[in-house]
Amino acid sequence: MRYGHFDDERREYVVTRPDTPLPWINYLGSEAYFGIISNTAGGYSFYRDARLRRLTRYRYNNVPFDLGGRYLYLRDSESGEFWSPSWQPTRLELENYECRHGMGYSSIGSRRNGIEAETLYFVPGGENLEIWRARVTNRRDSEAKLSLFSAIEFCLWDAWDDQTNFQRNFSTGQVEVEDGVIYHKTEYRERRDHFAYFACSEPLAGFDTQRDTFLGAYRSWDNPEAVERGESFDSVAHGWAPCGSHHVELTLAPGETKEVVFVLGYWENPADAKFDPEGSQTINKKLVKPVIERFLNSGEVESAFQSLREYWSELLGTLQVSTPDEHADRMVNVWNAYQCMVTFNMSRSASFYESGIGRGMGFRDSNQDLLGFVHMVPERARERILDIAATQLPSGGAYHQYQPMTKRGNNDVGSGFNDDPAWLILGVAAYLKETGDLSILDEEVTYDNEPGSESPLYEHLQRSLRYTLHRLGPHELPLIGRADWNDCLNLNCFSTTPGESFQTTENKEGGVAESVFIAGLFVLAAEELAQIAERRGHTDEAETYRADAAKMSEAVLAHGWDGEWFRRAYDYFGDVIGSAGNEEGQIFIEPQGMCIIAGIGLDDGKAVTALDSVAARLATEHGIVLQQPAFSHYYVNLGEISSYPPGYKENAGIFCHTNPWIMIAEALVGRGDEAFDYYQRINPSAREELSDLHRCEPYVYPQMIAGKDAPSFGEAKNSWLSGTAAWNFVAVSQWILGIRAEHDGLRIDPCLPKSWEGFEATRSFRGATYKINVSKPKGVCRGIAQVVVNGQKIKGNLVETHPAGAAVVVEVTMG
Ligand code: BGC
Ligand code: NOJ
Repeated sequence: MRYGHFDDERREYVVTRPDTPLPWINYLGSEAYFGIISNTAGGYSFYRDARLRRLTRYRYNNVPFDLGGRYLYLRDSESGEFWSPSWQPTRLELENYECRHGMGYSSIGSRRNGIEAETLYFVPGGENLEIWRARVTNRRDSEAKLSLFSAIEFCLWDAWDDQTNFQRNFSTGQVEVEDGVIYHKTEYRERRDHFAYFACSEPLAGFDTQRDTFLGAYRSWDNPEAVERGESFDSVAHGWAPCGSHHVELTLAPGETKEVVFVLGYWENPADAKFDPEGSQTINKKLVKPVIERFLNSGEVESAFQSLREYWSELLGTLQVSTPDEHADRMVNVWNAYQCMVTFNMSRSASFYESGIGRGMGFRDSNQDLLGFVHMVPERARERILDIAATQLPSGGAYHQYQPMTKRGNNDVGSGFNDDPAWLILGVAAYLKETGDLSILDEEVTYDNEPGSESPLYEHLQRSLRYTLHRLGPHELPLIGRADWNDCLNLNCFSTTPGESFQTTENKEGGVAESVFIAGLFVLAAEELAQIAERRGHTDEAETYRADAAKMSEAVLAHGWDGEWFRRAYDYFGDVIGSAGNEEGQIFIEPQGMCIIAGIGLDDGKAVTALDSVAARLATEHGIVLQQPAFSHYYVNLGEISSYPPGYKENAGIFCHTNPWIMIAEALVGRGDEAFDYYQRINPSAREELSDLHRCEPYVYPQMIAGKDAPSFGEAKNSWLSGTAAWNFVAVSQWILGIRAEHDGLRIDPCLPKSWEGFEATRSFRGATYKINVSKPKGVCRGIAQVVVNGQKIKGNLVETHPAGAAVVVEVTMG
């Protein structure tokens, strides 16, 4: 069953009933001010950092799941009946409910008793505020007298402290109300220079800022006392829980529409101009007022919204394709690219499954996010690379995460994951290939953010590679440290204490646990660094890297090959994991993907053998599971992976992030049908029909789909923030459709299903536009017969870089 449909023309997903199996969310903002919004207007907002600068409060794991957000209530003054036009929180039945999630905006509309309401929510480009534009229309044949109430709950900034430190926080909350604008200024009187404001375009009949006065004792958001009685209390919060609610009275003639604009925003004042009059405790509003006035104006709102739409058209225009498959088109052209932007912005910090207080920006995660994002806004990718690299440790190792506000690395979610440094090389390589901007390699970047420790970025990459090389185990394979890409393969942890974090608990010294996955990653990263070294004229260095990679490949073939697939690791004691000899966890997906992508086994048939094993042992109709057989009990020597019940997460779930590695590997061995088949199995749009089973949004990838060992096989979880977004984008655009940025141009090397006759694409690359037409006789998957560029046949399939502004026509014939 479906709960909506795609509107491809408008690049929107249209949810047509509010009671989706799980909240189906969207993101507002893509620079500094962000919001999460569900299909029933749930969610919250923050400035830059979901933990440290939270504007509105949100209670996770609530009942119902999604409660609290950007709410409006309509009340019919005659009958006294009130309802939420976004369904929640009153959940009264609506006619014509429709939520349209678009690129950086959502609009939620409905009708009840002849009153239509449609609210558009978005963040204008360059601003630290969000707009709610409500349009209320009277479809009755008589006049309607209505009240419109808004409601938000402020968070006292630090979202962690806000949820825990009540003995203090119930006494610190402060607001001001001036000219109908509600200002939330908790802690502004002391060290904060920022406040939030919530404004309304219409004259107010009343307002509330004390939550428990607005709601009334023993009531919740579905039944606020102010709304029920049709009159605000004009409460001013002192301590307790500051909220923001406006009350607007509307009288609408039959057929009449009225627009009411609300603006919720964040503002920082200069430290020496916080108060007005000076010496008082009153917020200086001189600087913020013009901004508020501007965005309460209907014309400004409309033009800001149009600019947002144009911004996204331009971004998505970087790659547009037309293939025989609507699901592929929709994901490549719109939703997968959009999700890549969101994962780039959020890393793994804030979603409905990531609380915003748990994790900041991941070192490995953000580097992988770059792979799917870099073609859209390379300047921001550049900035991100420099931020990440500045947290790298002098040893070449890495903090596992950093907070976006402070940009400093920390060990809050663990450290010593030995794969981390290698991902920096992959992120930088992707940036260089996209832009050709070698100057980034000369940027002076600190280690551990320590002033004075700077070295050129290039040296950071060298140290990354050395980090692995200097940490090899008895099989000449990389030591795994706390874990590798698979955070839950904690081979040195040996935790027996209930509740202890596998990610942060001290590791046991003296082990020799090694990772075949990191070996594959190293081979890939070494080749990338060799190519970069060549471009800097260091041919000798490039040779060394290639020799190191060759040695590592030999170690993989000698100790990492199990006969029918690549092994996964060696444990603390040097015993093999991911081998036919193991009772459980005999075959893992990660090394099959990564070793083949690195080129290991491509020339001796091992790659094909490994992929056949994946097909036979790991592939299911809902995607490829992480390993088999699932761990049926807890293994103290394996760690968190075996803590999950079989079929979930890293214990044999369909961990979607890894599936595109197999798609790429299939493309590398030329099996276009297999690559595309795997692509479709987890493609959210292709799973739309299964919404009752899948349950997550049909327009973005989840992190995981329950595997075949789970009772809920096929059910998705943890939507939005996952490396799945970037890697699927890479797999389909660069390896299946085969349009790949390289240092010297665009490589065109598709690997397609046999039945396709070709496809078309437009790709902007370093300022030029390439119109690419691929045609192929049926029956072929891969191989290029000829490439004609602007009428001239070229040698090979690398279309060289053209000058910015050029329009390049590329005719590709496969065969
Ligand atoms: C999850 C992993 C995640 C890790 C982050 C674990 O509980 O299973 O997917 O990467 O936490 O710290
Ligand atoms: C999610 C984490 O964000 C990512 O870094 C990790 O690679 C996967 N889980 C697998 O454990």
